[in-house]
Amino acid sequence: MDCKSITSYNHIVMTTILAIETSCDETSAAVVKNGNEILSNIVATQVEFHKKYGGIVPEIASRKHIEVINPIIAEALEKAKVKLKDLGAVAVTYGPGLVGSLIVGLCAAKAIAYSLDLPLIGVNHLEGHIYANFLISNLKFQISFPFICLLVSGGHTMLILVKDHGNYQVLGQTRDDAAGEAFDKVARFLKLGYPGGPIIDKLAKEGDPKAVAFTRPMLGQGYDFSFSGIKTAVVNYSNKTQGTATHLDFARRCPELAEGFSRRFLANLAASFQQAIVDVLVEKSIQAAQEYKCKTIALAGGVSANSLLRKDLKEKAEAKGFGVQIPSLHLCTDNAAMVGCAGYYHLKQKRTSDFKLQAVASLKLVGYNVTL
Ligand code: KG4
Ligand code: ZN
Repeated sequence: MDCKSITSYNHIVMTTILAIETSCDETSAAVVKNGNEILSNIVATQVEFHKKYGGIVPEIASRKHIEVINPIIAEALEKAKVKLKDLGAVAVTYGPGLVGSLIVGLCAAKAIAYSLDLPLIGVNHLEGHIYANFLISNLKFQISFPFICLLVSGGHTMLILVKDHGNYQVLGQTRDDAAGEAFDKVARFLKLGYPGGPIIDKLAKEGDPKAVAFTRPMLGQGYDFSFSGIKTAVVNYSNKTQGTATHLDFARRCPELAEGFSRRFLANLAASFQQAIVDVLVEKSIQAAQEYKCKTIALAGGVSANSLLRKDLKEKAEAKGFGVQIPSLHLCTDNAAMVGCAGYYHLKQKRTSDFKLQAVASLKLVGYNVTL
């Protein structure tokens, strides 16, 4: 890499990367030093603008990204105390995600890289999530290859065998809804709010996870997942039970208790639904680690913020002798630091992008040596 501000000693690359992430409804810019040190990581969420629609409205998302992208980049540089002239490269998410949202980040990244004559590094958003595990503030121990990564987000649920930097084997993925999508849809059906994951996570703490016996789909059937059945089971259970005479009678006879009763009903439903999803995710991750002889299981993606998933994976996997690596909460959901970290390893391999780089809405997990 023949570029200013990058010093290369054997295979160690010393550089400061400006990273940009706009794949969905978070506008984020970060400055990451030498691949693992976060100098700044600014995230502007649009959740308030999408809430009333019960989900992300792509057109609103693109517009909001345009409004804040420049101030967010300026804030990231200022917080990092880094000037544009100190940067060594610009990394940016180019997919998968909402195409209109991706384009905003991509245009900003191209403009900065082109005007400063810096390398542009296109990063796969999914790869970014995996690399949240390599950021210094996250490292419980030096993660060693191969490891299993359970990547669970709003759009993806994947079990990945990470053999080396950029060398991924996708062992399984969801055949229908992603785990986060199931959380969001169930919360929307129960009129709990948006985004559903954190709301269900919180409500479930008041409930009994054994209250409703939901099946654990596709357990013992390889590494693929299917969550749309549990989602439908929640809907059916709720329709059937909420409508029964017992519930209505209770509400009529004891109106002062009706609200609490309904909350208990919802909490039990949330806890049972969450437990079913988490059981499947944890069980399959441990099976994969056993089969592929990995010492570590890493979590990635927005759903890895789920408190039950974090607790159960840690307890059950550690009981079987596996190390568990979980990003700190603010690095689980979408952020640019993870993109800067993944971008650093591309740069180390001299894998930069040209300025024709396009946004790819359905980009697959592409490593430098991928086995699908
Ligand atoms: O990775 P992410 O921020 O964006 C995507 O790339 O999709 O993930 C967002 C997803 C949403 O579906 C959200 O409901 C879910 O992560 N999520 C959670 C929790 N926090 C966020 N799901 C379960 N429990 C949580 N605590
Ligand atoms: Zn994400």
